[in-house]
Amino acid sequence: MPASNDSNPKLYMANRGNFSGRIGFILTAAGSAVGLGNIWKFPYLAGQNGGAVFLFIYLFCIFVLCYPVMVGEISIGRNAGLDAYGSYSKLGGKRWGYLGLFGILTGIFILSFYNVVAGWAFGYFLHISFGDLLLEKDFGAFFNLFVNDIFDLTSPEGFANSNFLFSIVFMAMTAFIVARGIQKGIEAANKIMMPILYLILICIIVYSLTLPNAMSGVRFYLIPDINELKIQTVFEGLKQAFFSLSLGMGTLMTYGSYLKKNENIPSSVAVISLADTSVAFLAGLMVFPLVHFLQFKLQVTEVATAGPPLIFIVLPQIFHEMGPLLGRLVGGLFFLLVCFAALTSTISLLEVPVAYLVDQKKLSRRNVSWATALLIFVLGLPVMVSQGMVPALNKLAFYKGQDYLVFIADMCDISLTVGGCLMCIFITRRWKIKNMHEELEQGNPGYKNSFLKKYLTYAIQYVCPVLLGILSILIIIDKFVGIGEIF
Ligand code: TRP
Repeated sequence: MPASNDSNPKLYMANRGNFSGRIGFILTAAGSAVGLGNIWKFPYLAGQNGGAVFLFIYLFCIFVLCYPVMVGEISIGRNAGLDAYGSYSKLGGKRWGYLGLFGILTGIFILSFYNVVAGWAFGYFLHISFGDLLLEKDFGAFFNLFVNDIFDLTSPEGFANSNFLFSIVFMAMTAFIVARGIQKGIEAANKIMMPILYLILICIIVYSLTLPNAMSGVRFYLIPDINELKIQTVFEGLKQAFFSLSLGMGTLMTYGSYLKKNENIPSSVAVISLADTSVAFLAGLMVFPLVHFLQFKLQVTEVATAGPPLIFIVLPQIFHEMGPLLGRLVGGLFFLLVCFAALTSTISLLEVPVAYLVDQKKLSRRNVSWATALLIFVLGLPVMVSQGMVPALNKLAFYKGQDYLVFIADMCDISLTVGGCLMCIFITRRWKIKNMHEELEQGNPGYKNSFLKKYLTYAIQYVCPVLLGILSILIIIDKFVGIGEIF
């Protein structure tokens, strides 16, 4: 019988905090996974990349490549009982610790841009629910003003409409929750927000399916278009799967370090992956009927759905069409949903550097949470101005004319798949697969002779590192050179 955290005082690290139990952990990890990536990015990626074809590739990536990586990441964290740097260096020596640091750094950069987009959503939530944004005629112009006016802090009006304010408040909410600790802050927040998130999602889907032309949206979303199958579709699917599951940089390792020994990791991971995938799938089912309803209303054949315009320009137009009262209700709920999804993710991102500073530098969680949040907010300033204010940053000349937000998001995507690949190599060559199995047997007696154990042995040692390695290299080539120019 493996020692549980509670019965073995040495393993029970009360000062670090831990999850109260299975439900708390699953909701919190799912909260990290479900985020802007699901609601904002997944629907338009699927729409652009051949609908059901993309869905199929995505599911393959989730269950074949991401599942083993997530199990590995959580078991490293739980075994070491430390932050990302601490876990790698405890189990593998100082040199492997750098991999943990690399992950922490990636997390810092992800949060720096993620928080800016979350701030937009928060601003829209307030403007739609309590302001008169829905009277707006041109949402494109509004969005541009909103993201560009960040330095107009001179007049009270300019200040109230600036993205600067919303982003800083969003970061402060994140810091507030992380500062309260694992059970009282992070877990409690997720336990409230995640069920509400599902509820709102279901309500909006039901409503949007009743709109005229809804079925055309559903068809567009779900009927496969094999012609769209390109190697880039596979890259997009893999990057999206890693990002969506919060893999490859130590978020789940850190959360795993707060998990008790008697919890069953493989089954929790299955639930977390399913929860994340279902929200991504359902988000498409919510968005496309709305978009096709708008096309019907405006009598146009297509509206731009890629990138920020989808939820910040196209959807508000739809809420506008619904009339002042219904629009305020549905639109307000929609952006509340986005805010909840984003907040449960920003918490998990901030927790990674915070756990590092608490564990390694023995600093107080409260102070560290606020200080790190402030620092990351400052790091996000170029992302804000990249949306138009400063021409030099707006279009980084060296990066295919893309803006800084796209640039930094792309770099982080690459770090995640590379991080996942290196983690598999770490388990195989340094920590050893048998130690992972031992960790997984705790809380899961049936694991010893299971098919899953055989599968994970192959997946972690061969399938994942090889495929992730090859795909990461191809993704890098494609980003900087263009795959079409080589093959
Ligand atoms: N998974 C979240 C989303 O889909 C974002 C996120 C949170 C994340 N923590 C992460 C992404 C860690 C990568 C790594 O929006």
